[in-house]
Amino acid sequence: MLQLLFCLSYFVILSSAVSRENFKTCEQSGFCKRNRAMQPGQSPYIALVDSLQVQANSLNIQLLNKNNNVRLKLEVFGLQDNMFRVKINELSPIKERYEIPVGDSLIEEPKLHNINLSQKDKDKVVFTMDSNKVVMSVEPFRMDIYSNEDPVISINAQGLMKFEHYRKKESWLSTTGSSLFSWFTNPFREAPPAENEEEKPEGEEKKEEENAAETKTEEEPDMWEETFKTFTDSKPHGPSSVGIDVSFPGFEDVYGIPEHADTMALKTTKTTDPYRLFNLDVFEYELYNPMALYGAVPLMYAHNEMRTVGIFWHNAAETWIDISSNTADKSVFSHIADFVKGNNEIPQTDTHWFSESGVIDIFILLGPTPSNVFKQYARLTGTTPLPPLYSIAYHQCRWNYNDQDDVKSVDANFDKYDLPYDVIWLDIEHTDGKKYFTWAHEKFPHPEEMIKNLSVKGRKLVTIVDPHLKREDGYSVYTDARDKGYLVKNKDGNDYDGWCWPGSSSWPDFTNAEVREWWTGKFSLSEYKGSTPDLIVWNDMNEPSVFNGPEITFHKDVKHMNGFENRDLHNIYGLYVHQATMEGLLRRSGGKERSFVLTRAFFAGSQRHSAVWTGDNIGEWSHLKVSIPMVLSLNLAGITFSGADVGGFFKNPEHELITRWYQTGVFYPFLRAHAHLDTKRREPYLLPEEHMNIIREALRLRYSLLPYWYTLFYQAEQDGLPIFRPLWVDYPKNKEVFRMDDQFLLGSSILAKPITDQGTTNTNVYFPGRHDIWYDIETYEVYDGGVTKNVAAPLDKIPVYQKGGSIIPRKLRPRRSSSLMYQDPFTLIVCLDQQGSAKGELYLDDYHTFQYRNGEYLLREFTFNNNNLSSKNIDPTGQFNTREWIEKIIIVGYPKNPLNISIKNFSGENSKRLDHKYNSEEKSLTIRKPGVNIADVWTITIE
Ligand SMILES: *[C@@H]1O[C@H](CO)[C@@H](O)[C@H](O)[C@H]1NC(C)=O
Ligand SMILES: *[C@@H]1O[C@H](CO)[C@@H](O)[C@H](O)[C@H]1NC(C)=O
Ligand SMILES: *[C@@H]1O[C@H](CO)[C@@H](O)[C@H](O)[C@H]1NC(C)=O
Ligand SMILES: *[C@@H]1O[C@H](CO)[C@@H](O)[C@H](O)[C@H]1NC(C)=O
Ligand SMILES: *[C@@H]1O[C@H](CO)[C@@H](O)[C@H](O)[C@H]1NC(C)=O
Repeated sequence: MLQLLFCLSYFVILSSAVSRENFKTCEQSGFCKRNRAMQPGQSPYIALVDSLQVQANSLNIQLLNKNNNVRLKLEVFGLQDNMFRVKINELSPIKERYEIPVGDSLIEEPKLHNINLSQKDKDKVVFTMDSNKVVMSVEPFRMDIYSNEDPVISINAQGLMKFEHYRKKESWLSTTGSSLFSWFTNPFREAPPAENEEEKPEGEEKKEEENAAETKTEEEPDMWEETFKTFTDSKPHGPSSVGIDVSFPGFEDVYGIPEHADTMALKTTKTTDPYRLFNLDVFEYELYNPMALYGAVPLMYAHNEMRTVGIFWHNAAETWIDISSNTADKSVFSHIADFVKGNNEIPQTDTHWFSESGVIDIFILLGPTPSNVFKQYARLTGTTPLPPLYSIAYHQCRWNYNDQDDVKSVDANFDKYDLPYDVIWLDIEHTDGKKYFTWAHEKFPHPEEMIKNLSVKGRKLVTIVDPHLKREDGYSVYTDARDKGYLVKNKDGNDYDGWCWPGSSSWPDFTNAEVREWWTGKFSLSEYKGSTPDLIVWNDMNEPSVFNGPEITFHKDVKHMNGFENRDLHNIYGLYVHQATMEGLLRRSGGKERSFVLTRAFFAGSQRHSAVWTGDNIGEWSHLKVSIPMVLSLNLAGITFSGADVGGFFKNPEHELITRWYQTGVFYPFLRAHAHLDTKRREPYLLPEEHMNIIREALRLRYSLLPYWYTLFYQAEQDGLPIFRPLWVDYPKNKEVFRMDDQFLLGSSILAKPITDQGTTNTNVYFPGRHDIWYDIETYEVYDGGVTKNVAAPLDKIPVYQKGGSIIPRKLRPRRSSSLMYQDPFTLIVCLDQQGSAKGELYLDDYHTFQYRNGEYLLREFTFNNNNLSSKNIDPTGQFNTREWIEKIIIVGYPKNPLNISIKNFSGENSKRLDHKYNSEEKSLTIRKPGVNIADVWTITIE
C-alpha cells in the first residue's frame, strides 16, 4: 500500500513537475508583487538628522516612513578591506527580525575600519573612509557612495525602499481579543513628534486620519494569508518584506546571484520576472530565464573598464532581484552619474532587491580591481579549503549502481579500458528503504569489503545521505531525532510530515547547532555501519525537496528554533545540512584527513564546506552549453568547487554529445558523470571505441593537469579568486570579453573553448591580451592575443591553450587513480611569451591531510629569463619531503636548437650537462631527465 502510494506520488511529481506551474511567478507571490509595484521617485523615507550618532567606525541614524510614521534604525559601518556595511532594521520591532547568525554565512564579525564625519546639516550627512565618500541625503533618504570622487554605488536613489514592519493584525485582533497581543504594545510606533505644536486640533486629527488612511491602503489581501495552488501559507506574523534599490552608475555589466540557468552577464528583467533566489528542486529546469534553482548566493558584481564593485545582500529569505539598465532599457530613472557629470551618455545599471523577511543588510565591496572584490567577499564568507586530490579527479556516478557486483564490474571495466577514475557513487537505492546510513543488505551484503577493494587502488566510495528521515519506528536516526525534539515543526507545533523518497518523512532542524552536532555523530565509523574512512558523502534534496510541499519544498510557516519560520531562513537550510555532514566526516578522522561532501542546495558560505553541482540537468546540447555560464557564475560567487553533471542527468545523450560533454567537463572544477535511473548505461567503456578513446584522452588531460588544478585550489583558498573564471577577471579593461561566457580561463594560464554545438568541427576562439600569445596545448601552434581566430575542432579536438609566459607543471604518466600519482615525476611545460620569458607556480603537499596547515607543503616558483630556467621556494614556512622529481621540461616557443644545456644546483658546485631534443616545426625544446627533486633549488642554463 505504502509502496503503491509512493509510486503514485512519484509519478505525479514526474509528470507534473516539467511545467513551470509548480513554481510561483512574481505575480503569485504577495511580497514580490508589493515590492515590484513600488514606483521611482515616491520614497516615503526621510533620515532624521537629529538622531545621528557617530562612533569611530560606524554611525546610526533613524529613518522615518512618512506614510505610516514607523521608524527604522540605519547603521553604517566602515569595514576593513575597502568595504561598507549598511543595515536597516525596525527601531523597535514587536517581534525580533531574523538575522543570520555570525559564523554561518559570514565567517566572523567583519573587522571595522574608521570613518570620518565630514559634514552634517539639515539636507545631508557626509562621511569618508580613506578615498571613499558617502553622501546621505535626508529627504528623501538615499546614499551615494563615491570612490575617488567617482560615483560607484547608490542606495535608494530610485526610492524603491520598502520595509514592512511587523504589525498587529487589526481584524483578527478585534475578533480574538487584544489581550493576547498586549505585550506587542510599542511606544515607538506612536505618531511622530508633532512638527507644529501650534496647529489646531482639527488639523492634527486630519493628519492622523491621513496617516491612518495611508496605513490602511497598505493592507492587501496577500498580507496575512496567501494561497498558491492548493497550499495556504498561514503567515502568522503578517507581511515582513524588506526591499531597496541599488544603482551602479557607470556600469553596464552585472554578474553573480547564482543559481540560475542563464547567461553569465545578467540581463535586464523589464520583460521577465525578476531573478529569483529561493532554493528549490526544479525538475528538468528551463534555460535562460530568471527562475530560482537549488541554491542562492545573493552577491552581485558590477564591472567596467575602470573598476569592479559588488554588493552582498546578507539575507536568507526568499529574494527577488530586478535589473534595469539605461543602455539596455533606455529608461529614464534618476542617474546620479548624469547628475554629477551632466552627461547623458553614462551607462547605469539599476537593481532592486527584496526579501520576504529579515533585515536589510548590505555589504558594499568597493574593489576596485576584480581580484580585490573577490578577496573582499572572501573576507566576509570564506574560501574553499584545499580539497583532497581525489576529489578534484574524476567521479563516476549513476542512479544507481545496483549492487556490490555492479560496483566491482564498473571498477574493473575502468581498469580494463585504461580509463582513470577516483570515486564511484551510490545513489538512494543503496539504502534499506531510503533510510540513510543503512544498506540494502541483499544488494550490498559486504560494504566494507567493497570499499576496501576500491581503496587498494586509491579509490573512494560516495554514498548519498539526504536530510529527509523516513518516519518509521524502527529507524533509529528518525526516532532519535523525534525523541530529542530535533525535527522541524509545522505551524501547529507538531513534527512536520512531508513526502520524499522514503514516503512520509521528517527533517531535522539543521538551523539548530545542537541538532547539527547530533548529526555529525551519525558519521562516526561505529554509528554508520558498513562505512570506512574511504566512504564520503553526498547531500541531495537539501533545499529541502518535499514532493507534496508548496513549490516542492517546506511550507513557509514551518517552524525552526527560536521562533523563526522557514520563511525567514529558507535559503540557508541546505548549507547547515552539508556543513554538519562535512563536520561529521572531518571528526571521523579526528580532524586529520581532509574530506569531501557534495551538495545540491547552497548559500553564501557553502564554499567553506562543500562542492556544488548544478542539479538535475538534461542530456541535451543546450544544457551542455549553459553549464559554462552556470559554473562561471558559481565561481564568481565564491563557489569555486562546482560543476555540472557530465552527460546530463535526464535522457540519453548521443555519443557525440556525451563525448563533447567530457571535453567540457574535464575543465569543471568538480568533475562527475551522472545519469538518471531510467537512462541507458553510458559509462565511457560502453561507448564506441572512437568515442571512448577521445574520452580517455580528455580524462588523461584532466589527470595530467592535476598539479596545476591543485595549485589553483591552494591559491583560491588563500585569495578567493575563481578558478574557472571569465576572461574579464584577467582582462578587466577589455570590453570585448565582458559578456563572453562560451570560453573561459582556468587560473590565468589556460584558455579553453570546448565545443558545445552538435556537428561542429571548427569554432571562433577569441585570444585575449593584445600583448599576449597563446599556444595550442597539443600542437604548440601559436595564436596572437587580441584577435579572434577560427580553429579546427574535429571530435577529437578540444580548443585549449596555454598562455605564453606561463609555466604549468603536469604529471604525464597515465594512472588508474590520482592517489597512484602521488609520487609521480613532473613535466614542466614552459610556454614563452614574446620576450622569451615565463613564470609559474607549483603547490604540493601530501595531497590528503591537514598537515599542510602545519607547514608541511612546498610552494615553488619557476622562472625562465635570459635562457635560464630556475626553481626556487617562494614560501619559506612550507617544508615538505617528497620523492617527486622533475622528469622532463618542454620549452615551447624556443627559437633554435641550442648547443649545450646544463643544470646547476643552488651551491653551483655541480654542473651537469643535460640531453635535449629540438623540434624546429613546433619550436619546442625538450630537456630530458634533469633528475632533480621537486624541492631542490636549481638553474638550467641554455647556451
Ligand atoms: C580621518 O581623518 C583623519 C584626519 O584628516 C585622517 O588622518 C584619517 O586618515 C581619516 N581616516 C579615514 C579612515 O579616512
Ligand atoms: C573484493 O575483491 C575480491 C578479490 O578480487 C573479490 O573476490 C571480492 O568479491 C570483492 N568483494 C566485493 C564485496 O566486491
Ligand atoms: C643564469 O644562471 C646562472 C646560474 O645561476 C648565472 O650565473 C647566470 O648569470 C644566469 N644568466 C643569465 C643570463 O641570467
Ligand atoms: C656544456 O656545459 C657544461 C657545463 O657547464 C660544460 O662543462 C661543457 O663544457 C659545455 N659544453 C659545450 C660544448 O659548451
Ligand atoms: C648539489 O648537488 C650535489 C650533487 O648532485 C649535492 O651533493 C649537493 O648537496 C647539492 N647542493 C645543494 C646546495 O643542493
